[in-house]
Amino acid sequence: MTNKLVVANFKMSMDTSDVNNYLKDIATLDNKNVVICPTSIYLPYFLKKKFEVGLQNVYKEDLGAYTGEISPKQAYSIGVRYVILGHSERRQYFKETNVFVNEKIKACLKNNLKVILCIGETKEERDLLKTKRILKKQIVSCLKDLKSIQNVVIAYEPIWSIGTNITPTNAEIEDAITFIKDVVWELFEAKIKVLYGGSVNENNIKSLNSINNVDGFLVGGASTNYSKFKKIIKEVTE
Ligand code: PGA
Repeated sequence: MTNKLVVANFKMSMDTSDVNNYLKDIATLDNKNVVICPTSIYLPYFLKKKFEVGLQNVYKEDLGAYTGEISPKQAYSIGVRYVILGHSERRQYFKETNVFVNEKIKACLKNNLKVILCIGETKEERDLLKTKRILKKQIVSCLKDLKSIQNVVIAYEPIWSIGTNITPTNAEIEDAITFIKDVVWELFEAKIKVLYGGSVNENNIKSLNSINNVDGFLVGGASTNYSKFKKIIKEVTE
């Protein structure tokens, strides 16, 4: 057993019958290093099992008139223990800024939720050799004024790698993770878990998992098929 984390991000990809089938498939999953983040309306079906459950997003307030939103307090009270924040799809389609992500991180930590903060560069930024500048800016802004980062995990997700079947080389991922850990150390004098995300699948996981400093993976597409996801879990956590 290792201490690496494997996080499934189902996004908005399953309907009720898919969820029912998936629940049958994972009936015997007994692994607290696995975090399943279903679409939020299906969340109760995944709770009270022998794995962790996370939200794909949350709002920054505990309570109030915010139609359509879910609060960190509500999430914790039902048994959710992780929240993905700052995913590039939320930044792109819902215009979430680093400042807003920072507010939501604070609200989650206040409510004892663990945060999986997603950061990563676009293809253009990478081509312009701006990757590290962008990563640093995202880390500094999103973690601004936090008292402790003990319950924060960072997921390095190059945006051009999400859902494209293209991944950086292992050396590039290792370099980015070293950089992220260094920046966090400079700011907090603390160590942080850094996951890799972006086109992780059952075929490339063995190689990706051989990267020295990677602490786990955030898996989108391949997590929605349990026979694929099971292979990833086995490779990473056993
Ligand atoms: P992917 O998505 O595994 O389908 O590339 C990863 C993510 O968006 O977190």
